[in-house]
Amino acid sequence: MTAIVKAQTVSMKFKSVDALTDVSLEVAPGEKVALLGHNGAGKTTLFRIMLGFIRPTAGSITIAGHAPGSDAARKIVSYLPEQVAFPKMLTGREVVRFYARLKGAPLDDVQAVLAKVDLVDAADRRVETYSKGMRQRLGLAQALVGKPALLLLDEPTSGLDPLSRQHFYELIADVARQGGSVLLSSHGLSELEARTDRVAILRKGRLVANAPLSDLQHQANLPIRIRVRAAPGAIESVHAEIGGGRLNCASVELFCAPGDKMRLLSKISGLGAQVEDVDVAAPTLDEVYRHFSKIGADEARQGRE
Ligand SMILES: Nc1ncnc2c1ncn2[C@@H]1O[C@H](COP(=O)(O)OP(=O)(O)OP(=O)(O)O)[C@@H](O)[C@H]1O
Ligand SMILES: [Mg+2]
Repeated sequence: MTAIVKAQTVSMKFKSVDALTDVSLEVAPGEKVALLGHNGAGKTTLFRIMLGFIRPTAGSITIAGHAPGSDAARKIVSYLPEQVAFPKMLTGREVVRFYARLKGAPLDDVQAVLAKVDLVDAADRRVETYSKGMRQRLGLAQALVGKPALLLLDEPTSGLDPLSRQHFYELIADVARQGGSVLLSSHGLSELEARTDRVAILRKGRLVANAPLSDLQHQANLPIRIRVRAAPGAIESVHAEIGGGRLNCASVELFCAPGDKMRLLSKISGLGAQVEDVDVAAPTLDEVYRHFSKIGADEARQGRE
């Protein structure tokens, strides 16, 4: 199927800053893709290029075959910026109506979209009375109005509590089920589990990963932690048999490559009654993310403005 966004070897240089280098990324219709990266990795810059706000220094980008920012592309794309700001004197409903008119969407959509983001009760209150999470949800409402084919959401879940976050992911799943595409930026892998089809990670402007989350876990090949609790009196022989480090007078901890896990587990089970319990812990998603975005504190500092 033709990609709704197609970025080919896109680079963006701001004077001495290489904000993006050779980034190629596609999003297909109905796909949900997460764009991750440290502060200054280039996420917002990529969105701004997709929207046609800025032109890349090199490479090309198309939105359903159209140039970013062209009338045809603007009809397709909706954007939720990193910092949502609306005129404080307007009500939530007035804001969404404004965007509906701008996009030529039927005004009947406004109420439905407000309901989707759970703002019906507050719809006729001024935005200045909204909490941060409510403003964020209003931002999402303006992005959803007019049923765009492509949603570009820059850190849409920042400021949302866990329940609202969950609700947000249900909304974007709905968008995708109806054939819409979603590209959203985020800072953490852990909240994305089973919620996006693919994860793209930028590191200092370069795309260092672009695969489903389960593939990334596999590719990272991070060690698996195994803890073995020995039966009373058996710790010495268990330790001698399987190695690792002694945790206390009853447990041993060892780390192994994913490919070695089954061999070790069968060795442990071969110890029979000497072993009381085994705990196997796969790397956390945060560890996987750190693996791909491996940046030390110094590098992170350089990346910031
Ligand atoms: N208009 C600009 N002029 C100069 N440098 C810029 C400009 N816009 C972005 N940059 C630089 O480009 C790099 C990427 O910035 P960008 O805002 O895309 O990062 P980000 O991944 O969105 O970060 P964050 O997570 O903090 O939002 C940074 O080094 C930033 O300082
Ligand atoms: Mg940003």
